[in-house]
Amino acid sequence: MKNKNGDIWLDDQGKKIQAHGGMILKHENMYYWYGENKEGPNVKSATDGRKVDFIGISCYSSSNLRDWHYEGLVLEASNDPSNPLYRDKVVERPKVVYSKWTKEFVLWFHYDHDDYWIAASGVATSKTPTGSFELNKIFKPNRKDSRDFTIFEDEDKFYLVHSSDFNKTMYISELTDDLTDVTGLYTKILVDQEREAPAVFKKNGMYFMVTSGTTGWEPNAALYSRSNHLFTPHKLIDNPCEGQDYRYTFHGQFNYAFEVKGNVYIMIDHWKPDNLRDSGYSILPVEIIGKKKRDLRIKWTEEPFGGELV
Ligand code: GAL
Repeated sequence: MKNKNGDIWLDDQGKKIQAHGGMILKHENMYYWYGENKEGPNVKSATDGRKVDFIGISCYSSSNLRDWHYEGLVLEASNDPSNPLYRDKVVERPKVVYSKWTKEFVLWFHYDHDDYWIAASGVATSKTPTGSFELNKIFKPNRKDSRDFTIFEDEDKFYLVHSSDFNKTMYISELTDDLTDVTGLYTKILVDQEREAPAVFKKNGMYFMVTSGTTGWEPNAALYSRSNHLFTPHKLIDNPCEGQDYRYTFHGQFNYAFEVKGNVYIMIDHWKPDNLRDSGYSILPVEIIGKKKRDLRIKWTEEPFGGELV
């Protein structure tokens, strides 16, 4: 069995991997893939049934980034309507980071109602990467909206990069050392550009951010931006995709960028809005060409990681 980009991938038991809108964390020579478990039917919602009730956040582990072992739900939906994690809520795009100060794993997620009007961040903590995580708080970072987001580490500091102001503007908000809160220092970038699903990485001293437009589950053209500094304006440059359907991000939405052995890879969710549980995955290599006008390239290939990690 071999997983192919664009398909739903299978774990080491041959079961569908349920880790959408996710991320991969490396910790002590193991990789952990966290994501939304959508193994349920689409239900009626403010978004015309384009929703699965909250089930939980899955975790899969792997030593080689190819064979994934299910570790269970690290955060679970509640059946109690008075619980903030009641199953009618929306819990999306989980990102887990490790604080070397508290030696705790911290899980951030986008928390919402099915009408997407709460626009808050949830924070949960655990002593181990496989959970379970205990809810710490649900709040608006710096009293701002936070919908799609990522967490980016730069020289021992962590930043929440979140779509805000009704998805008009991206914010970069510094996190406290325990990684459970914001410090109050933040900046706005890509002002009024309506970008979401940010994936950030640093290469050759430059900060790159790949984002999507705001068309919900429907694919659109990705754009990348770059900047010499995290907190100075980021310039939108171009669509980094090349190949068939490059204007539709290969029928997906970029999600999370990470480095393995100095190479940058980016995860894609191939959303199936009317049957979300079968949404597929891709992991594509990112080519950094140099400080030219257009310096990033992401080509379509069916092989996860472009076949590079054999
Ligand atoms: C997308 C977003 C997804 C989900 C979806 C709901 O724009 O990236 O995470 O929130 O909208 O329509």
